[in-house]
Amino acid sequence: MLLAALLLVMPVAAAPLAHSLSCTLAGLATGKNKLTFDARGNFKVVSFSDMHFGEGEEVDWGPQQDVNTSRVHSIVLDNEKPNYVVFNGDLITGENVFADNATKYLDQMYAPTVARNVPFSSTHGNHDNTLAINHQEEIDYEQAHYSALSHTRSDVGVKPWGSGNYWVPVYAKKTDVVPAVIMWFFDSRAFTMGKPSDGNGPIPDAANFYWVDENVVPQYIKQQSAVMELVWKKVPPALVFVHIPVQKADILAPLPSPGDHDDEPDPATQGFLNGTYTGLDVPFWNALVDLDGGHGTVLAVTSGHDHGESWCARAKASSGVPICFNGHSGYGGYVTPNSQVRNARVFELNLGDLRKKVPVVRTWNSYENSTITDEVVLGPEYMKEYN
Ligand SMILES: *[C@@H]1O[C@H](CO)[C@@H](O)[C@H](O)[C@H]1NC(C)=O
Ligand SMILES: *[C@@H]1O[C@H](CO)[C@@H](O)[C@H](O)[C@H]1NC(C)=O
Ligand SMILES: *[C@@H]1O[C@H](CO)[C@@H](O)[C@H](O)[C@H]1NC(C)=O
Ligand SMILES: *[C@@H]1O[C@H](CO)[C@@H](O)[C@H](O)[C@H]1NC(C)=O
Repeated sequence: MLLAALLLVMPVAAAPLAHSLSCTLAGLATGKNKLTFDARGNFKVVSFSDMHFGEGEEVDWGPQQDVNTSRVHSIVLDNEKPNYVVFNGDLITGENVFADNATKYLDQMYAPTVARNVPFSSTHGNHDNTLAINHQEEIDYEQAHYSALSHTRSDVGVKPWGSGNYWVPVYAKKTDVVPAVIMWFFDSRAFTMGKPSDGNGPIPDAANFYWVDENVVPQYIKQQSAVMELVWKKVPPALVFVHIPVQKADILAPLPSPGDHDDEPDPATQGFLNGTYTGLDVPFWNALVDLDGGHGTVLAVTSGHDHGESWCARAKASSGVPICFNGHSGYGGYVTPNSQVRNARVFELNLGDLRKKVPVVRTWNSYENSTITDEVVLGPEYMKEYN
């Protein structure tokens, strides 16, 4: 504890961020209330993705679509009663909204979670980077208006298009110093242009990357996990959220895993620039594999973006790291034949499960029709035959 305290006071206010991060645990220096497991040792996370608010603001079905999305959001919250909510990107259909009231749609997007007083945070998607609004503006707005509940931050990453990279600790109990689990959030950037008839110009070059930044983010993961190891003598189990899926998802997609498989053969994945695969998504993926360390530290890497995918899989090709899809929580955005009933993905973290030699986590899809499906336990036994 003494060491932790020392490390926290080391950075000077004026020190550049990169320097202060090299010796600070960024997820502790936030002044936020500590998140803790409940009395039964559980912490339930509900992840909504691709809510796509504001898609049709000038047509009569637009507002009704958003009402529908809020209904999905409320039903799932009332059925699941989570301890934490993640909005996993594409919070709004940003290319269709007006810059001067874009954030009004964010208010609608957060509302059911805020009304139930559930802490939350967000990742940001390709539809959250547009000419009307961008990731940093969404982060600033969330921090300014929802600071009592929101844990969203920007630790590193290029502003304003790729700055939503941060982590949030969850403790077994309030007095603990070492978290039981860390939720990591990453910014997969990309940009969505409105209609050419709106007079839009080319995509800003600095926004046109379809993957998590390959320079600062892997370095951030390495630094932060090294400090965790130093201070806590361990790197806690990790639940990872990023809007656009990692490229290994393409390789895992054909495997027989429970959940929708509607965007195949090729769920759109990270690594593309102007439609050409660059390989520049690999440094981020490698940093996640290092974080996992072959010990099962990474419980799951969960993405949205491909509305018709809602499975979890792991295989040798993903170095045993489970990759999950969120499904589709919004009435906005495209719909595939088997994913018409909207859903969220739920993770039930349990202290006993996390303290196993190789930690495990239970996950399922929770639907607006109040059905739960595709329940699996991610860990060494899951899809063992492919690992
Ligand atoms: C809203 O939801 C209802 C019930 O699912 C559906 O019939 C209707 O088509 C939806 N409307 C829009 C605009 O999404
Ligand atoms: C935003 O402004 C547009 C244009 O005035 C309007 O049609 C729309 O309803 C507004 N949206 C919200 C959420 O206030
Ligand atoms: C990507 O395409 C856009 C528009 O077609 C162009 O302006 C830009 O230079 C391209 N970027 C790269 C790195 O090729
Ligand atoms: C609810 O929707 C899910 C997903 O489409 C489906 O599997 C399930 O059968 C539905 N449940 C009911 C009661 O209609």
